[in-house]
Order: sequence, then structure tokens, then C-alpha cells
Amino acid sequence: MEIKERLLVPGDWWEVADILGTDGGVALIWGASDTGKTTFARFLTETLRGKGCRVALVDGDMGQATLGPPTTIGLAIHFPSSEAGETSRIHLRFVGATSPSGHLLPTLVGLKRLVDKAFSLMAEVVLVDTTGLVQGGAARELKFRKVELLRPRHIVALQRASEIEHLLHPHVHRPGLKIQRLLATPEVKAKSREHRRAFREERFRHYFQDAALQDLAWRDVGLHGTWLGSGKRLSGSDLTFVAKSLDTLVFYGEKAGEELCLVTGGEHRGEEIHRLKAHYEVREVQVWEAGELQGLLLGLNDGEGDTMALGILQDLDLRAGRLTVLTPMKEPNQVKLIQFGSLKLEASGRELGVWGKMGDQALKERFWAEKR
Ligand SMILES: Nc1ncnc2c1ncn2[C@@H]1O[C@H](COP(=O)(O)OP(=O)(O)OP(=O)(O)O)[C@@H](O)[C@H]1O
Ligand SMILES: [Mg+2]
Repeated sequence: MEIKERLLVPGDWWEVADILGTDGGVALIWGASDTGKTTFARFLTETLRGKGCRVALVDGDMGQATLGPPTTIGLAIHFPSSEAGETSRIHLRFVGATSPSGHLLPTLVGLKRLVDKAFSLMAEVVLVDTTGLVQGGAARELKFRKVELLRPRHIVALQRASEIEHLLHPHVHRPGLKIQRLLATPEVKAKSREHRRAFREERFRHYFQDAALQDLAWRDVGLHGTWLGSGKRLSGSDLTFVAKSLDTLVFYGEKAGEELCLVTGGEHRGEEIHRLKAHYEVREVQVWEAGELQGLLLGLNDGEGDTMALGILQDLDLRAGRLTVLTPMKEPNQVKLIQFGSLKLEASGRELGVWGKMGDQALKERFWAEKR
């Protein structure tokens, strides 16, 4: 790995590298946006590798992802130069969005799986680079649970002043954990929101540049992040009944647990939803409009939930049970689970926004309930 020559290395960076190399185990690198976390993680990786250490770098920043495309978190093992080969293959987990907000569980579970994988591949030090999400309740919860789950030996806190002390506070008495505080160097160049978006767009564009259309039968694989395929398909007469009630075309439907899930041809009469709830004895009615899912980012995973590739949903043939996906993956028959993400994307890398998913329908329903 190359470290830029202009890098300014404060003396205490070397001290922290020494301590981490001696102690081994997991080190979480925390800091607000633009405090030099990723640069410091790279410095540590290279320095510890130079000392003969087997170092795992877990890239836990799904926004400014460096190992995989944005929306994924990743792992690479860097072997000391004395060992054959310098870097392992990269392991990825799809989070589904470019921020952990609203995606705390896939972030946390994905990190845990990558850290476990690192140890199974004989890593001695596991460095976890993180996002700059440090303010608010979600940040507190995520950071707290990361410590509970990953049981780090070290948290390295990069701060301009004391802006993440509130995240460190719960852990100061935790046995076996050392907190290393470092001042963020003034050399860090802040990235604007536009810069970050342009970075993601370029990474996506590059990732999908040689992508081709692949056809996947969704009945042959597991699906997650969607109700699709999880329930009992509605009969033709049920679809006609629902279509009449909602005064719109209804192409497809399933009853899954206490949810009725429908795909319609356009706007529907929301005020009739409560009648459907009573008729089908369900608590929730989810409605997608056909075409709404086009552009949705999908994680194409193996049987362990590791992400082999990403895909962009192009078409959904509900009758035939097939998805048409734009993906660089050459052998889609190895996919065992398709994870629906939240981001919609063009193949050019341009982000089209976040798909409403479950919460959106709940909002629509509340709107109609208040109108009644
Ligand atoms: N010690 C340093 N010496 C010189 N330049 C640095 C140093 N640390 C960071 N930089 C510069 O600042 C930029 C941003 O730093 P970096 O990406 O490491 O911050 P970060 O905290 O990981 O940001 P993010 O919030 O996006 O995760 C780097 O690309 C690098 O050019
Ligand atoms: Mg970073």
C-alpha cells in the first residue's frame, strides 16, 4: 500500500502503532468527518505490516468506501512482506445505503462478520475504519454496540477538540479496553458534500462500467429487504377484488404474516386500505407502484451472506418470478440470496435517491387515517 509522501506523521502515531502491534486484537478508529481516520488506518496498516504483523483492514465506511463500491463495507488482509502474497482477496458485505443511519443492523452485523473473518484468516491486528457519524442518538447506539460486539482492545479517537468524548464516556471503565486520544492533524483536507457525492458516483460508474444484464429467477434464491416471495401469492379472484377496492390495476399480491403486499398500476384509493385490512385480517398493507423499484441497488450474496457483487434492478417480471439485473457478475447462478437495498442508481453512477420502502407506506397510511 502506498502512503503519500506529503503525509504528516505526528510522533504519537508511531507510539500508537507500537502499542497496537504489541497488544494485537481489534482497534476501532473513531472520529468526526474529516479528522484523518482513513489516512491514519492506512498508516497503521503499512507500519504494522512493516513490523511483521498480519494486519486486517476493515473498511466500515459504506459512504466513502475504498475496498468495494459505495454501500458496501469490506475487509482486506495485509501480510508482512516476508509472507507470500501481500494482500488477500477482498471480502464485502452489502449494507444497502451510503450511511449507517437507518441501516444500523446491517452495518453492525456486517462488521462483526468481517472481523470474525479477519481472525479466521489469522489476522493479528484488526483495524476498523469507521464513518464520521458521531452525533445524535443513532451514532451513540451504533458506537456503543460496536464495542459490545467487537470487543476491541483499543479505541483510537481522532479529535479536533473533545467532540467525541460523549461516545468514549460509556467505555472508560471497561476492563481490557484502552482509549488512545489523538489530535486530528491540521493537514486533513475537508471534503464537501459534493466532493463525497462525486467520489461515490465515480466509484459506482467504475464498478458498473463492464456490467451486463443478467436474468435471475427469484424463486431459486432467498430474498431479503423486501416482502417479495415471503408470503402466499394472491389468487386471480383476490387480485380482482383488491383492484376493485383500490380502484386501480393490481398486478400482483402476497399475504405475508400479518401484511398484505400489493403491486399496483398507479395511484390507489388510500381510504379503502382499512377495509382491506379487515377483509384479509392483516395489520399492514404495503403497496408498490409497478416500476417503482427500477434502479434499486441489490446485493448479490453467497450462502454465507457475503456479497459477491452488486446489481441494479432493471425489470421485475412478477408472473414469471424473474429479476433482470445489471451487474458485473459473470456467474449469477452462484447467488444464493438477493438483498434489496435502499438506494436507487443509474448505471452511470448517478444516485436517484432513496427508495421509500416500509416506512413510506406507514406514513401514507397515517395520512389517510388522519383524513378519515
Ligand atoms: N496526516 C496527514 N497528513 C497530510 N494529509 C492528510 C493527513 N491526514 C489526512 N490528510 C488529508 O486529508 C484527506 C482526508 O483525510 P481522511 O480521508 O483520512 O479523513 P477521514 O476522517 O477518513 O474522512 P471521512 O470523514 O471521509 O472518513 C486525505 O485524503 C489526505 O489528503
Ligand atoms: Mg475515512
